[in-house]
Amino acid sequence: MSSVVGIDLGTTYSAVAQFDEFGRPVMVPDQDGKYLLPSCVALIHGEWRVGSDARGQWAADHGMEQKSSAARFKREMGTSRDYPIAEHRLTPVELSSHLLRYLADYTRKSVGPIAPVVITVPANFSNEARQATMNAAKDAGLEVANIINEPTAAALYYAYSGKLNEAGTYAVFDLGGGTFDITIARFDGKSVNVIWSDGIARLGGVDFDEALQMVLKEKYETLTGEEISIQSMNHEGFDLGRIQDMKHSLSRRDKVSFFARGQVIEVTRKEFEDSISNFVTQIQLCCENALDGAELEAVQLDGVILAGGSTRIPAVQQCVEDVFGCEPLSIANVDEVVALGAALYAGHRSDQDVLTKLQQVSAAELSVQDVANKNFGTKALSWDAELEKPFAINSIIIRKGTRIPCSMTESYTTVSDDQTTVDCSITECDHAELDYDPKFVRIIGQTNLKLPPGRPAGQEIRVTYEYDINQIMHCHFEDVESGEKNEITVDLMKGL
Ligand SMILES: Nc1ncnc2c1ncn2[C@@H]1O[C@H](COP(=O)(O)OP(=O)(O)OP(=O)(O)O)[C@@H](O)[C@H]1O
Ligand SMILES: [Mg+2]
Repeated sequence: MSSVVGIDLGTTYSAVAQFDEFGRPVMVPDQDGKYLLPSCVALIHGEWRVGSDARGQWAADHGMEQKSSAARFKREMGTSRDYPIAEHRLTPVELSSHLLRYLADYTRKSVGPIAPVVITVPANFSNEARQATMNAAKDAGLEVANIINEPTAAALYYAYSGKLNEAGTYAVFDLGGGTFDITIARFDGKSVNVIWSDGIARLGGVDFDEALQMVLKEKYETLTGEEISIQSMNHEGFDLGRIQDMKHSLSRRDKVSFFARGQVIEVTRKEFEDSISNFVTQIQLCCENALDGAELEAVQLDGVILAGGSTRIPAVQQCVEDVFGCEPLSIANVDEVVALGAALYAGHRSDQDVLTKLQQVSAAELSVQDVANKNFGTKALSWDAELEKPFAINSIIIRKGTRIPCSMTESYTTVSDDQTTVDCSITECDHAELDYDPKFVRIIGQTNLKLPPGRPAGQEIRVTYEYDINQIMHCHFEDVESGEKNEITVDLMKGL
């Protein structure tokens, strides 16, 4: 029988968890017995290596012209950026595929053959980034059963853990290495109903490492009267790997010493936290927006639960207290909750016939309802009465925060006499304002509806978007009078 697993593909660390034969989520260790695999890839003596060895190579590569490694590429998923490794150039999809193949290999060694997997992605990952994740999995020879948003996976694990109130509304505050997500959800036993999700795609521990590196640079320069470039810092003992270790110590200690280039540089927690205060302010604003989006006041929440390693930073925990007026609950391992939740979701969505009796009981108790994480619409024309001419708009059909599955219909009209086609575009964007320039929205699907000739302007075109539980959107464009129809399906998990 195949094992049911979930994979947390993280910016700095990745992890796998299994839905075990008793229907419990358990972490799967790698060959070294570790649960967290550094998300690094390297070419060492002609061999592709992943994890700790690759991280070592990545630290050694800092500041070097010729690189043999890559890390922190998740934030570039869905973009055209590539990473030089020796004579190769690898895309984030290729790098993620190396990671996924390695994770799948050690998982198979540990638990045997694996069923189609669940992979987690940040809640505010774009369609392109989700599609890129699916492509990476395919290239790694993995079949993907589902994708789940990271904070939703964490929420599911917390619901399963039984450590929350039997019913309540909680915020899931997820700050990892690369991204920040805030999700507000209603918990009822082991059911999770997401109300709203917001996030910042490029904000996480890697930014804090760089901020701490700047603090060390300034201190070193003051101490020695000698300027040092970031480039030379990287290969003269001030590399981001060592700086990350210092950052971790600063979460526990008020002051930490750093030794490099014959100097002892002391950094206090306050100095580090001051250096990241602009990021913390952005996080605070994002949380306030999420409360607005959910139409809730902080006092209406029953608590805040955490995911992601960067939530260990005291200033981040203070930020939670400032926004939500309560201390975050510390009831689970923040490094593991996403992978454990992904394993639970994999069990929940699995073909129940292949599960053991105990797994079936556990899976049946779970339920998850998520929301649309973006606005989905279509490009249309509106009439500017003052200028007496039409202007392009992005008309939203499914709003961010709408519970899925859902079906929404809007009507539009043709604009010219004898109009014989309508360009039907499916758009995705974060902004819902009507005057938001449609040039900046992403087009995730397109079709052309043919219309009969010889009719006056003003013919009704009815547009229906049906967003199903598997994140597939069925879009119907219909010319009401003639009954002419066009349909297009956009798999929001796989792209076009
Ligand atoms: N004690 C600590 N103090 C400060 N930061 C920490 C601590 N422990 C871990 N971190 C940071 O947490 C981050 C890793 O967390 P996590 O594994 O949850 O993120 P990720 O899954 O790699 O990233 P993402 O979810 O954003 O893609 C790293 O930036 C790491 O430096
Ligand atoms: Mg993570």
